[in-house]
Amino acid sequence: MTPANDVLALEIDHLTVSYRDRPVLWDVDAHFPAGALSAIVGPNGSGKSTLLKAALGLVPADAGRVAILGGSSGSARSKVAYVPQRDAVDWDFPVTVREVVEMGRYRSVGWFRRVGRSQRAIVDDCLERVGMAPFAGRQIGQLSGGQRQRVFIARALAQQTELLVLDEPFAGVDARTEHAILGLLGELRDHGRSIVIVHHDLGTVRSTFDWVLVLNVRTVACGPIAETLTPENLRRAYGSDAVVAEEPEPAPWG
Ligand SMILES: Nc1ncnc2c1ncn2[C@@H]1O[C@H](COP(=O)(O)OP(=O)(O)O)[C@@H](O)[C@H]1O
Ligand SMILES: [Mg+2]
Repeated sequence: MTPANDVLALEIDHLTVSYRDRPVLWDVDAHFPAGALSAIVGPNGSGKSTLLKAALGLVPADAGRVAILGGSSGSARSKVAYVPQRDAVDWDFPVTVREVVEMGRYRSVGWFRRVGRSQRAIVDDCLERVGMAPFAGRQIGQLSGGQRQRVFIARALAQQTELLVLDEPFAGVDARTEHAILGLLGELRDHGRSIVIVHHDLGTVRSTFDWVLVLNVRTVACGPIAETLTPENLRRAYGSDAVVAEEPEPAPWG
């Protein structure tokens, strides 16, 4: 993790967000370095998804400031690919796997231009990387939840943005595919891209990520994994029931 300069991927300053007068994020400070693989962890309902939505300008904040890659969320829109948490998207309309991933390229080809050969190669590569190439012609409605999730990840990859924001992207995805996609995200990070993922598997966060925000309505801790993902911080976030993963989990490849 060697940020090329001082610009942060994401900077959150005194952010407070409420739904119907009930604060679900309270005075949250957090920052995520550029060129790092970062996780957001915290119990259910701790505001992880809301934090991402507020950062991207999708829900209004009561107070606070957000900077994405050094700019406002509006100006940075085209530099961010976002995969919302599963269930947030209704994909009942008839569209194929390939078409969904092609949507990731529309910004560069324009909505009404045909997707040319080089664009098609990018789409093929992204489908390949998430193991969905054999399903390219399949209607999205015919896929399992985990397969859809892989298609959304492929679409985000196809956008080739500086920052990737993924909200629990591996829900319903088998361990082998999750491991492969995490390896791919690590490669993107090695090439200077910034990645922020809401992820619930603390063992994987410890073994694979560079940076973590531990969140429970407020910021519990934010920083490099070794100093931040401590039993004390996890207990503060999750309570005494915290399952504290001390050791990296073995790779699921066997
Ligand atoms: N659209 C909404 N309207 C009202 N309350 C919401 C809405 N979305 C989330 N909440 C509530 O806000 C809190 C934080 O939710 P969320 O950000 O989804 O947490 P997490 O992603 O950490 O599980 C929860 O109590 C949740 O029930
Ligand atoms: Mg969530």
